[in-house]
Amino acid sequence: TGSTEIDLALFGALGDLAQRKLFPALYHLDREGLLDDSTRLLGLARQEVDREGFRNRVEASLKSHVKAAELDRGVLKRFLARLDFLQLDFLEPEGYGAVREWRQDGLHRPMVVYLSVGAKIYGDICRHLEASGSLDDQSRVVVEKPIGHDLDSSAEVNDAIGAVFPESRVYRIDHYLGKETVQNLIALRFANPLFGTQWNQNHISHVEITVAEKVGIEGRWGYFDEAGQLRDMVQNHLLQLVCLIAMDPPANLDADAIRDEKVKVLKALKPFTDDMLGRDVVRGQYMAGTNDGQAVPGYLEEEGANTDSHTETFVAMKTGVANWRWAGVPFYLRTGKRMPEKLSQIIIHFRQQPHYIFDPDQRGLAANKLVIRLQPEEGIALEVLTKDSGLDKGMRLRRGPLHLDFSSAFPKTRIPDAYERLLLEVMKGQQYLFVRRDEVEHAWQWCDSLVAAWTDRDEPPRRYPAGSWGPVASIAMITQDGRSWYEDY
Ligand code: BG6
Repeated sequence: TGSTEIDLALFGALGDLAQRKLFPALYHLDREGLLDDSTRLLGLARQEVDREGFRNRVEASLKSHVKAAELDRGVLKRFLARLDFLQLDFLEPEGYGAVREWRQDGLHRPMVVYLSVGAKIYGDICRHLEASGSLDDQSRVVVEKPIGHDLDSSAEVNDAIGAVFPESRVYRIDHYLGKETVQNLIALRFANPLFGTQWNQNHISHVEITVAEKVGIEGRWGYFDEAGQLRDMVQNHLLQLVCLIAMDPPANLDADAIRDEKVKVLKALKPFTDDMLGRDVVRGQYMAGTNDGQAVPGYLEEEGANTDSHTETFVAMKTGVANWRWAGVPFYLRTGKRMPEKLSQIIIHFRQQPHYIFDPDQRGLAANKLVIRLQPEEGIALEVLTKDSGLDKGMRLRRGPLHLDFSSAFPKTRIPDAYERLLLEVMKGQQYLFVRRDEVEHAWQWCDSLVAAWTDRDEPPRRYPAGSWGPVASIAMITQDGRSWYEDY
């Protein structure tokens, strides 16, 4: 694909995301030869640091976030030399003249503005950039979630960005879309006729998505308590997974062809009604427990906690996509903090054969499952049934995976971090891995219906011990349908 001629201005350059993810990702792009020699990176932050101090900070971050074997001295030197720093009060228009001056040296290159700051000031930054003459009609803007906390507030943020940047130059990040296996959903579904022909309610009985995190709140109590797991994880990451599983085949791989299909899924999501709450939705909050044998505090005992918070750290729900392809197929979703392990997987459960001829006791076994593992190890497994070996086994069935583990199947290929891919796509000006405004808004609309129902009921979340798979009710939610959360791989 060649290298990319671009200048990048990164607001919030001393923040956690920039230091932990963005600079390491940019370093890797440089190492892979994907940054043009002329490409420059401008860090902007409120703190007073000079250029040397900034380069030192970035160097230290790279040393702790990039594997030693991947830290090449020559590349590191070249990378650090690209970095400039500008101290700026983001809300003061006067300071932005310096951004324009920095631009003067790179006018033939498009500029990417990356806003790694709170969404409340996206609009101000965009306006000041424009008013200072720092932008041109090729400039792109990258924004992070959360974009608002409901439909109305997200519309406000999007309006403010939209007043400066047309949608075709706005890149909304959902970092799950940059994960290798998430993109593989598109390849798997639309390149394999085997799956393409089976991908509907005639052949699929239900879909299960688990995104379990081992971490707790990690010093982000203030942010998290306002958001909760529904807004933090479901509104964006889980719904994006639902879209990629449920969407119709796009006519081609163009950004809008894909995103049009995703929007149709979001529009068809079943809205929540009050009677579904007790039965099909479970909210949880973790109590003290253990993680890897270590005692860990409960959510209400975390640093900075307000001890009567009802915010959920876990949510499980049964939902569905009300259209021709998916009528009657439940989608069971669950995600939570402080679960026993970090595990993200999607399981497509296929229907049983119409006529069963084997051992009646094994009837429950007899169906295929497609397991798509996003993390920890990325891989795809198709669970199939074979005959159990051994003379005395007769026609007993045994299930086992046809298994594709990416790291052992393609040992030489490094699986890039989501941010590497996303930054590269922004630089190339390709939007298909970014979330369009109407996607964000339809996702909020659906979440808002659930939040409204919760607020009406005003029930405390169910407690679960840290290090468990969530409240018992989340297990009951699926067993009431004669099913269970998938456990084997
Ligand atoms: C972020 C959420 O978007 O995703 C975090 O704000 C969460 O709360 C994180 O921990 C999970 O991302 P990943 O890539 O580790 O699954």
